[in-house]
Parts: sequence; C-alpha cells; structure tokens
Amino acid sequence: TEMTPEQGKQASAERALEFVQDDSVVGVGTGSTVAYFIQGLGRMKDRIQGAVSSSEQSTKLLKELGIPVFDLNATGPLELYVDGADECDPHNRLIKGGGAALTREKIIAAASRQFVCIVDPSKLVPVLGRFPVPVEVIPMARSHVARQIVKLGGDPVWREGTVTDNGNWILDVHNWSITDPVALESRLNAIVGVVTNGLFAARPADLVITGGEIRA
Ligand code: A5P
Repeated sequence: TEMTPEQGKQASAERALEFVQDDSVVGVGTGSTVAYFIQGLGRMKDRIQGAVSSSEQSTKLLKELGIPVFDLNATGPLELYVDGADECDPHNRLIKGGGAALTREKIIAAASRQFVCIVDPSKLVPVLGRFPVPVEVIPMARSHVARQIVKLGGDPVWREGTVTDNGNWILDVHNWSITDPVALESRLNAIVGVVTNGLFAARPADLVITGGEIRA
C-alpha cells in the first residue's frame, strides 16, 4: 500500500534518528517533518547533550520535551543537522523557507559537518522552481530587491503579514525554471538588502531520506 505524505514524513524522521550520535548537540530544522524528528529526539534525550534550533517554533517543541537548546555561538561546529525541505532535486539541492525559517536554517547547515534532509516523496522534483523561492529581505529594501528580481526573470510576491524570527520580510519568487541553482543562489545573495535566499545549492544536503529510504 502507498504511504501517505504524513507517513512519509514520519518514516524519514524516524530514520534520521539513526544518525544522532551519543553526547552530541544536534542541529534541528523547522517544519512538520522536523516535528516528528523532535518527537524522536525527546525519546532519546538522555543520550544527547541537546540541540541548536533554527526557529522559535522548533525551540518551543524542543523545550516542551525537556531537550536543552544551545546558542550556536556556544557549541562550535555541529556533527549533524537534520531539516526538511520544500523541494529537492536529484543533486540534493533544495528550496527551503516555506516556513520562513530559511536564514537560521542556512546558518546551521553551514556550521554542520553533515546535513541530513528528511522529506516525503512529494518533495522530489527533477528541476527546482515549481515551489516559489523564498527570499528574506531587510524591510526597507523590499521594493528595491523585488525590482532586481524582476530583472533576473522572477516574479516576486510579498508574503504580507509574515515577519521572520530575525525581524525581516519574505518575498516569494514565482515562475522561475531554475537550471543553474548555484549561480542563481549567488546572484540573489549579491542584491543589496537580501539577507538570505531559500536555494540550498552551494551547500546542498549530504544525504536525503525520502519516505524512510536513504538516498546518498
Ligand atoms: C522552513 O522554513 C522550511 O525550510 C521547511 O524546512 C520546509 O518548509 C519543510 O516543511 P515541512 O516539513 O512542514 O514540509
């Protein structure tokens, strides 16, 4: 019988628990898939030191289960970061930020040795770009950044009402067929006023677990 997306998320989250080392501080992403992973971490909390969290949302879940949450500046590099994604291509390049937590997620991914991405099979795509690319912007730069994105062929839509954990705003860029995600990620980063964008291509996931199955 086919897995539902919910079962796929849960199976991937459970599988990722196998990568958690005793006595470690685990980098924890954000979203409904990661929520299952956090539940699992709760069951093994006596074996780990704690977590570094990518969002207020995940911090709340971790603390509810009694898992200590550390500041990334206090831990040094992490062994493992586990997070979901909105889209994943065959090279483990991702679009993230549907939950607006992209900046802290990208920071923890950059500071971690291994990035394990947990998804259900519905997130797998041949080419990135069906899901709009989130771009976190300094609020006063919103219109400027939007105009530059239009010049790059994208169609930016302000996610009105959303304020990130860092106090910034999100533009969702539609209608991009992303043939070179590494180049686009760096072009977006070069626009003044952009904090981070949701393309995880320069530093893709090291390993993707989809519906509980490991894809190296
Ligand atoms: C959060 O900002 C995103 O990057 C999430 O990783 C992404 O939206 C996946 O969320 P779900 O696990 O809820 O699909």
